[in-house]
Amino acid sequence: MTSLAEADVYDPNLMLGALEVPANWTKVFGRKAPLIVEVGCGGGRYIISQAEKHPECDFLAIERAGEFFNILHARVAKRRLPNMRVIKADADDMLATLFADRSVRKYHIYFPDPWPKKRHHKRRIFSETFCAHLRRTLEPGGELNFATDHYDYLQDVLPRIRAALPLKEHPGPWEDEPQGRTNYEIKYMKQGRPIWRFTAKMPV
Ligand SMILES: C[S@@+](CC[C@H](N)C(=O)[O-])C[C@H]1O[C@@H](n2cnc3c(N)ncnc32)[C@H](O)[C@@H]1O
Repeated sequence: MTSLAEADVYDPNLMLGALEVPANWTKVFGRKAPLIVEVGCGGGRYIISQAEKHPECDFLAIERAGEFFNILHARVAKRRLPNMRVIKADADDMLATLFADRSVRKYHIYFPDPWPKKRHHKRRIFSETFCAHLRRTLEPGGELNFATDHYDYLQDVLPRIRAALPLKEHPGPWEDEPQGRTNYEIKYMKQGRPIWRFTAKMPV
């Protein structure tokens, strides 16, 4: 079968139903390379720039909202990046089904929806199950990078993340993007809002 990377018509979009369970990323990208995943990436500012800077890695952007996904898809399609795919899906389902144990080098999760109303807290992405899948799917030495501006949200999710992963606060801005990695981060830094950043590195 011709891999997407070799096909004449480049379309970065993946359909959830068309993928194996777990997905065969070597087949999808036409090679074996470290897999970097961004969950809820919006228009994809950071992951697209990472895919351009790191041709040696493969990048998967997951976004479930149609309006953001369409922007993301158009940007990636225009750049014809052979090492990047996008998928319009709920990241909960993706992590539960599409990633094999110890198969992801890095997760990026920036400014996840805080769902401030109490009756909506169960929608917060860092559920116990989601955190367990992060742990299961990260490679030895793999990493989660996470940021939020929402203190109440942080108090709620930190114990669940910490129960699954060795999370450490990252002091100050990210070294690679001191102005902010994502649109939300750039906007909130300009507004002077406090931002909490974290990294969890799995033991080797
Ligand atoms: C507040 S926005 C932040 C966007 C981007 N990460 C940034 O920092 O600029 C949260 C994004 O996560 C997406 N999202 C929320 N829950 C998701 C889920 N379960 N699966 C995939 N995307 C999700 C939303 O559609 C939205 O685009």
